[in-house]
Amino acid sequence: MKDNKLAPKPAQSSYVTMTELVLPTDANGLGTIFGGKIMAWIDIAAAISAGRHARQVVVTASIDALHFKAPVKVGEVVHIKSAVNFAGRTSMEVGVRVDSENLVTGEMKHTATAYLTFVALDSKGKPVPVPPLLPDTKEEKRRYEQAQHRRESRMKLAEKLKEHED
Ligand SMILES: CC(C)(COP(=O)(O)OP(=O)(O)OC[C@H]1O[C@@H](n2cnc3c(N)ncnc32)[C@H](O)[C@@H]1OP(=O)(O)O)[C@@H](O)C(=O)NCCC(=O)NCCS
Repeated sequence: MKDNKLAPKPAQSSYVTMTELVLPTDANGLGTIFGGKIMAWIDIAAAISAGRHARQVVVTASIDALHFKAPVKVGEVVHIKSAVNFAGRTSMEVGVRVDSENLVTGEMKHTATAYLTFVALDSKGKPVPVPPLLPDTKEEKRRYEQAQHRRESRMKLAEKLKEHED
């Protein structure tokens, strides 16, 4: 990170909230939403967060394991919240939380949490530096620390997998 001279940016400038209504065309035969639909919303919210932080074109480099904790039914509302958790030299980890809301009862359910890595690219498709992230609140600092641990784990795993390729 020595060559990153960009001014740090607060985590808050990357905050995104998306609200979607689950339509019959989003559902499977059981009347609950397809996982892929939620994955698309997660990727969109996260891309906006990363783009707001980097102010560059960003691409999804990876998505960590994604577990769906509860089904979401047609007619329910899905809330997708995302923010940049950590910025490396050219990559950013974005955390996304998905909750569903039953409009009749008001019940909220945690549906999924996902961590995605985005890389900022120049016009030739080459990775370019992004501003360091400035976590402010206790929660943002916790996310920043945990994101660093996940980044280290990803790098170790990538190295191990490469050893097996050679
Ligand atoms: C993501 C991509 C730009 C990385 O290119 P690369 O040549 O491997 O880049 P580098 O090795 O220089 O790594 C650049 C950064 O990306 C990170 N990175 C690369 N691959 C990664 C992966 N699979 N997961 C997480 N981070 C990754 C590196 O750690 C590095 O981070 P840092 O600068 O913050 O330290 C390239 O693999 C790509 O273009 N992939 C396709 C992306 C795309 O089209 N996505 C849409 C869906 S297909």
